[in-house]
Amino acid sequence: MIVVWILLGLILLAMTVAVVETRILRVTRYSALELAPGLAASQNGMTRIVVVSDLHCTGFGRGNRRLIDMIAKEKPDLLIVAGDVINSRPCDIKYSKEFFDGLKASGIETCYVFGNHEQKLSLIGEEEFNAYVNEMSSHVRIVNNDTFIFGGITIKGLLIPLRMYRDRLSNIETYFDATELVGRFEDDGNYHILIAHDPTFASMYRDIGADLIIGGHLHGGIIRLPFIGGLISPRHRLFPRRTKGLFDEGKGKLLVTGGVGWHALPFRFLNDPEICVLEIPQKKSLASDEPE
Ligand SMILES: [Fe+2]
Repeated sequence: MIVVWILLGLILLAMTVAVVETRILRVTRYSALELAPGLAASQNGMTRIVVVSDLHCTGFGRGNRRLIDMIAKEKPDLLIVAGDVINSRPCDIKYSKEFFDGLKASGIETCYVFGNHEQKLSLIGEEEFNAYVNEMSSHVRIVNNDTFIFGGITIKGLLIPLRMYRDRLSNIETYFDATELVGRFEDDGNYHILIAHDPTFASMYRDIGADLIIGGHLHGGIIRLPFIGGLISPRHRLFPRRTKGLFDEGKGKLLVTGGVGWHALPFRFLNDPEICVLEIPQKKSLASDEPE
């Protein structure tokens, strides 16, 4: 009998920890050596980028002050918001507006690529979706299937077709051409970043030629198990691959953030909400190109 009580106690403790964990915020740091191992230490300095993904209307303090202050404290040159700020309901536009207004007030330059939840708004109604885009685009750089140059970094944002989030068991490669949507990186000597909300299809982005692909969407696997990793995807698939961390992907790297929020399942376990801080060389400078 005592074993049953101990087990029940442990389950209760784990559930409490899992709920409490959704309120924690951590910083995960990635150095230039990790992100650009083939490049010499930059002689032109570093660009500091913060990545935030999958807020899903989660609030960290009033107006998300705790999250915004944490981002501001890192003094980023650029904030990348990698999708799913909202939960695809028109009423959530207010939440998103508060968050982005707070970033603007803190002087944080921000770019934003939509995830599946932003795109779902377009299914609810054109008016709501257009209102959302107009609201955000007044002070946030939206890079859906677009490219911009920031210092010595070329950044592309890929808007993954919404059907890809549903037809996950289909032969997706036959009808999703990521390169056609966003184009290839030119050989401009810059560091190349591709933002794509769902990292599941990362191998399909290889032809685009990114040094670094940034994604989220998988919420770190929600429950993380030692030696195994994420247990479940937001779409309730078991043992999804590459749910959080830095991975090799072709000739480049894939960074998957566990995100900061939750939806559907209101907990996280051994999987604290995170913002990622990246140090990126401002210009490519191959060691072999340096004078002897
Ligand atoms: Fe998502």
